[in-house]
Amino acid sequence: MSAPSDFRKDFEILKSGEYIYFDNAATSQRPRQVLEAVTNFYNTANANPLRGLYDWSMAATDAYESARKAVADFIGADSTEEIIFTRNTTESLNLVAYSYGLENVHEGDEIVITVMEHHSNMLPWQMVAKKNGAKLIYLEPDEEGVISREEYTSKITDKTKIVAIGHVSNVFGVTNPVKEIAEYAHSKGAVVVVDGAQSAPHMAVDVKELGCDFFALSGHKMLAPMGIGALYGKRELLDNMQPFLRGGEMIEYVTREDATYAELPHKFEAGTVNAGDAVGLEAAIKYIQNVGFETIEAQEVKLTTLLMDGLAKMPYIKVYGSKDPKKHCGIVTFTMDGVHPHDLASVLNDDRVCIRAGHHCAQPLMQFIGAGSTARASVYFYNTEDEVKQFLDRLSKVREVMGYGA
Ligand code: ALA
Repeated sequence: MSAPSDFRKDFEILKSGEYIYFDNAATSQRPRQVLEAVTNFYNTANANPLRGLYDWSMAATDAYESARKAVADFIGADSTEEIIFTRNTTESLNLVAYSYGLENVHEGDEIVITVMEHHSNMLPWQMVAKKNGAKLIYLEPDEEGVISREEYTSKITDKTKIVAIGHVSNVFGVTNPVKEIAEYAHSKGAVVVVDGAQSAPHMAVDVKELGCDFFALSGHKMLAPMGIGALYGKRELLDNMQPFLRGGEMIEYVTREDATYAELPHKFEAGTVNAGDAVGLEAAIKYIQNVGFETIEAQEVKLTTLLMDGLAKMPYIKVYGSKDPKKHCGIVTFTMDGVHPHDLASVLNDDRVCIRAGHHCAQPLMQFIGAGSTARASVYFYNTEDEVKQFLDRLSKVREVMGYGA
């Protein structure tokens, strides 16, 4: 088994060691193998896929469809027809809200989400609820970010038509009990939508094992280029949904008045597709599989433990979510007494440390925990113990820089 440090050399941007990149929950870095795969696609097979009857176009189609197979296998989907390429998780979730939600949620129905959702798994459902006269119900976590069984069994009812839940919170890093929630939601006849943006890069996902109906992911958080994402949907649901976008290549036959649509998955992929970045996503999946989730999880737990132990020694720091580093998926969100998270991030930037500060696209969660904004450090397998030590050392000096006594 390779050590995480063996992989670091593949990331050009990290090579100089000048910067400490702890904003992996926002976007990961990309290894040479991913960038080379994209370049190779454009150098050897660049043509519009799915259309041309000449070699380059057919090669582009093959490359694009091979990437779809890689995604299907990566998340345990039954068939490539259940994988729709999108720009990112946000687009995947909007697709479900517009094409499934608006058609299937009616006045008096309920949609259940959690207060921990990223805005991308909240705003589309606010829209569906408002447009169709449905009610949006929020599941609330306890202090440690856990949604209890009592919480979801009391709020998911026969009125619930959709349960939309993040697999891993981008603020607490907690993994939600998606399998149990899906089982319960299905017993009430609801459809389950999972935002997998923060889980797919960090843990083995099997959509059938999770029991979800839809699963959304973003390539850019898992070593792939920005601008490619995917949506898994159960075939029987996708088959009965209307397209999200209409235009080229998603049709079967068009007259002046009307159109019939292509078979899955092309019905949902209007216009020229992002084949180059899909190829990058396939390379990213191969890279992650080569590293192995066991190595990824072990390194994240090691770094998170070191990080949380160090933060615990700073009495002016408050960490959110579980006290157990194993339940953070590499994400540690915190505040520092007397220092605004934006100031904190700026001071750290002077030391070439990259973290995220703000509401993390989860404003209702910030309101729920009573913090206008927070700071967030998030690690991935290519980060090192030395980086965590340097980070803690620089963090311990921030209050001094801001004018507090040492
Ligand atoms: N969703 C990303 C984050 O949590 C951008 O930072």
